[in-house]
Amino acid sequence: MGWTTTGNNGADAVTVLLAGAPDRTHVWYTALASDARFRVVSYATDPQDVKVKLASNPEIVLLDATIYPGPDALMQALAGVSSAVYVFLPPDVPQEIVEQVGSQPAVKASFRGDANLVELAGRMYADALALRRQAPAAPQMWGGGRPTGGTAVAGLRIITVWNRAGGTGRSTLAAALALDAARKGLRALLVGLGAPDVLPLHLGLKPDPNFTHWMQNPTQEGFQAALQQVGSLDVLAGFPDVLSEARAASLPKDDSASVQSLVTTAAYANYAAIVLDAPVGGVAPFAVAASNTLVLVARATLADAWASVEAYRTVVQRAAGQHRIAAGNVVVVLNMRDSGQLTPDEWHQAADAAAKNLGLSGFPPVAAVVPYVADVPVAQDQGRPALDASDAFARPVHKLSDMLFGGARQASGRGGKAIKLGFIKIRKGK
Ligand SMILES: Nc1ncnc2c1ncn2[C@@H]1O[C@H](COP(=O)(O)OP(=O)(O)OP(=O)(O)O)[C@@H](O)[C@H]1O
Ligand SMILES: [Mg+2]
Repeated sequence: MGWTTTGNNGADAVTVLLAGAPDRTHVWYTALASDARFRVVSYATDPQDVKVKLASNPEIVLLDATIYPGPDALMQALAGVSSAVYVFLPPDVPQEIVEQVGSQPAVKASFRGDANLVELAGRMYADALALRRQAPAAPQMWGGGRPTGGTAVAGLRIITVWNRAGGTGRSTLAAALALDAARKGLRALLVGLGAPDVLPLHLGLKPDPNFTHWMQNPTQEGFQAALQQVGSLDVLAGFPDVLSEARAASLPKDDSASVQSLVTTAAYANYAAIVLDAPVGGVAPFAVAASNTLVLVARATLADAWASVEAYRTVVQRAAGQHRIAAGNVVVVLNMRDSGQLTPDEWHQAADAAAKNLGLSGFPPVAAVVPYVADVPVAQDQGRPALDASDAFARPVHKLSDMLFGGARQASGRGGKAIKLGFIKIRKGK
């Protein structure tokens, strides 16, 4: 079977757009993710975004009305929509508005507050199939948009950037995400785990101190002494050679010098964002086990779709009691995409089909697409952050970082107090 043909595995699934605040769409995603009748293909968080995503004709739209300033704007947005739309209105709107919204042709149901999606699923599926019978075949959806952003992470996002395939741009994106978090004013730490690690080179840092210095003195003081800085971002450089990496990989999880202990030590140092740049093998399982979020970086190739599914499977299938990464906290990024390569939707369909072949309920949507930008390796060779190399690279990274860390950019916040950013509570300030 070809990778791009989904066969019976999901080709018939109804495509869904989730539009609303991230905490809301996350709950929806969780309810629909395990239901094979549905495939969440994109997310939208503001009216403009909804408009753009509607252009790809999702069969079902779940719409949180509160992203619109009022009923008029909502009504305008609903005019001419051909999807089956389910609208969730604020709990206190008058009955007449509920009815007005419900009378729009696209709206199949409107609710005050929340509805039980599991109960609603059967009706949604039937509505979508009825529309399918009326309409010519829908064009292929784009698998992009904002995934859930994950379950609520109390105070600290520990992100492992990983894939089973090498050279996908994990180190580049790990550094960019961590730097973007720091520039939002969050206490952020980037941990290199490569051997020899490219992060110091890419960020204009020295190879020393590095992870081996932490291993020699695995205490809070030893950790602080092993750090270097890029602006307000703290960086722990990775291994200088393969031998030291092998030594770290052989340590038991609870050893005081392990990756796990490093993350615990960093957590006590009051970071809001810890980003681990994991290698393909080596200490990767320890990084994954110490994290609550996985950023899967892949190129827009079938080989990388395959590798990504395998990476996803190792993370979520061993989840029972072993790992802390829930399916909703896996964020997929297509990197170095060039014209002519698979579209995000084609890529997602291939990954989704492969995941289903392995008995998984599906594969998470593509959260961001980063194009191939020739200035990125040039900047890295000069020791300048890729984030500063070009807007074409920085834009999707900002989007990802907003999703992971909330939308606030650069604030004062000294004193390590906890604030609410987007859907997660985060510690701010030194
Ligand atoms: N969006 C991009 N546009 C252009 N080049 C990129 C982009 N992202 C990464 N690269 C380049 O691709 C190469 C591989 O990137 P990187 O080292 O980040 O990947 P990796 O997955 O960490 O690889 P490794 O398996 O070696 O650890 C680097 O030369 C980097 O400059
Ligand atoms: Mg790397």
